[in-house]
Amino acid sequence: MRFMPNIIDGKKIANDIIQDLKNKVSILKEKPTLCVIIAGQNEASKIYVKNKIKKAQELGFNSILKELDENVTKEELFDTIRTLNNDENINGILLQLPLPKHLSEKDFLDEISPVKDVDGFNTYNSGKLFKGEKPYAIPCTPKGIMGVLKLYDVQLEGKTSIVIGRSNIVGKPIASLLLKENATVIQAHSKTKNLKELTKIADIVVSATGQKEFITGDMIKDGAVCIDVGIVRDENGKIKGDFEFNSISKKASLITPVPGGIGPLTIANLMVNTYELYLLQKGLKNEKR
Ligand code: GUN
Repeated sequence: MRFMPNIIDGKKIANDIIQDLKNKVSILKEKPTLCVIIAGQNEASKIYVKNKIKKAQELGFNSILKELDENVTKEELFDTIRTLNNDENINGILLQLPLPKHLSEKDFLDEISPVKDVDGFNTYNSGKLFKGEKPYAIPCTPKGIMGVLKLYDVQLEGKTSIVIGRSNIVGKPIASLLLKENATVIQAHSKTKNLKELTKIADIVVSATGQKEFITGDMIKDGAVCIDVGIVRDENGKIKGDFEFNSISKKASLITPVPGGIGPLTIANLMVNTYELYLLQKGLKNEKR
């Protein structure tokens, strides 16, 4: 059976999220403040950070960029985070990864106050997510994926889903979120054997490996929902995803392209997280946790 794939327009969904947020922010007396910390000169990170700050400004948030030297000491970075934790004018703290090699990502992520952890990467928030409880913030890319599945009314309960990748940023949190919705979750990774046998039975495929066109149409079940979280440049500098788009789109009922699929949703959800943490800190939103 041939399906007409529905190609998900992540840019449009992200624009709708931002528009909705703009309306909500416009009625606030004070504006949320996001602080982004970057250490070193990783070129990709510099672009990501610039885009995050630009989006925050577009929304009318206050934004602060802390650019630290490649050789920043542990003490300086700890001090920077602690000062921001203690500053009640700061609502969201984002520590851009990767950090320079002499710094432990885990130690610094865990130093960020859980209520200001806009990425949802520290142990408190990721532990809450793992237990199926409510963290202060859900990591932005997985949150974006769940938003797309909801928007397209994808039924998850009892469905077989496969997550390819086990990073703390995407693979592990999206598996927890799918599990919470009662999907049957297969967590595959670089050491998985017979990947095709597993992808073939999946109703939902989420791939986050960063390996160009690693997943091909023959690995996909007819009608599967296919979410591509990979971003990699090919030899001509063109951005590609984990999916071989042409062959998968002939099988999928829903597919996210790269670029223009999940990517734009990450920044949009970072802004949502900043806004939501602001509301929590100001006592404007009471939630059971
Ligand atoms: N590096 C790559 N992706 C991310 C992200 O979502 N957040 C942070 N802080 N660093 C990253």
